[in-house]
Amino acid sequence: MKVDSLILKDFRNYEGVQITPGPGMNVFIGSNAQGKTNIVEALHLCCVGRSHRTSRDDEMIRWEQPFGRVTVRAAQQDGTHEVTIILARGQKKKKNIKIGERKAERIGELFGHLCGVLFSPEDLLIIKGGPAERRRFLDMLLSQLSTVYFYHLQRYAKALSERNAVLREVSQKPSLRPTLDPWDEMLAQYGAEVAARRMEATEHLSRLAASEHRHLTDGKEELTLRYVSAFRDTEDVRQKMLEQLFASREDDIRRQTTGCGIHRDDISIRINGKETRVFGSQGQQRSAVLSLKMAQLSFMAERKGENPILLLDDVMSELDMNRRLALGERISQIQTFVTCTDISDLGDTGNGVLFQVEKGMLTQK
Ligand SMILES: Nc1ncnc2c1ncn2[C@@H]1O[C@H](COP(=O)(O)OP(=O)(O)O)[C@@H](O)[C@H]1O
Ligand SMILES: [Mg+2]
Repeated sequence: MKVDSLILKDFRNYEGVQITPGPGMNVFIGSNAQGKTNIVEALHLCCVGRSHRTSRDDEMIRWEQPFGRVTVRAAQQDGTHEVTIILARGQKKKKNIKIGERKAERIGELFGHLCGVLFSPEDLLIIKGGPAERRRFLDMLLSQLSTVYFYHLQRYAKALSERNAVLREVSQKPSLRPTLDPWDEMLAQYGAEVAARRMEATEHLSRLAASEHRHLTDGKEELTLRYVSAFRDTEDVRQKMLEQLFASREDDIRRQTTGCGIHRDDISIRINGKETRVFGSQGQQRSAVLSLKMAQLSFMAERKGENPILLLDDVMSELDMNRRLALGERISQIQTFVTCTDISDLGDTGNGVLFQVEKGMLTQK
């Protein structure tokens, strides 16, 4: 996939810009707080429908303005895809999506049009953070590839919050206990769908990440991923989840929250058999994220049949020569958007189109 136009209108500190990126490397260079990450955020927003740094959409609208808008147009094997996201301040519907000229009814319709991999310093949290970070990594990846996955995930989340609400009611009024049944059914049904895809994806990612990591460490380190779940190695996940939910009802009512299900799952990320989160050095943790991100890139490219775009925000300066080179080799065929404060951060990674970023203005060099 190749983005051939990006238009921002009242998005963050951009009043209005349009750029035509090159097919290879696009470098956004400037001092701090000029608007480099805002560009990456805009592109990512059109791929996944949400910001990578805020859950509040209106933060992305330029201050004092009622609306903000991003349009990304990209060429793919099957033709041109254009996604527009319109953000509205203080409106009931805060986010409107257009695919070409057509207004989308649901966020899920966004997926499948644009496809991107974002790599930023915060991704270290995939290794160092809690299970929710790792689940989000998988969920975002799989949602971009499958609208169905996204809908299953959404329905699971909805059923979970409904069941928790009912648990609170039941703790006051025990006769309401049977009203838990339909929510258990729904959790088990959607949970089984989500779990199956997450497990399959983790196994495949594990193979890809291992190979990236071997390359990065001259064969010294073996990186493995394993999906950690109460429902692993179960033939009928749906049935087992149903039984567990039923068995844990008393506890759940007492705690007023659902204690079992795929919202508790995790991925174990190990180097030479040891948990990277706990035992990995800073350097190993950084290499592991890089391998993971490269694996994500291959995974998405395989499933889509073409490369996604790659967004590298502030990561180049953090990589040593060796890793930078490995990354450079790997991305030579991929349209990349990279931000940095100094051109020397890029080393020999290659040259491409250079944009100077200053106070929400872009100048192509
Ligand atoms: N909603 C907004 N409206 C206007 N300016 C904003 C908004 N949100 C952030 N900014 C400004 O954008 C700049 C930060 O942009 P960012 O892309 O994160 O910088 P960097 O170049 O360091 O990556 C800051 O100057 C900040 O004040
Ligand atoms: Mg930045």
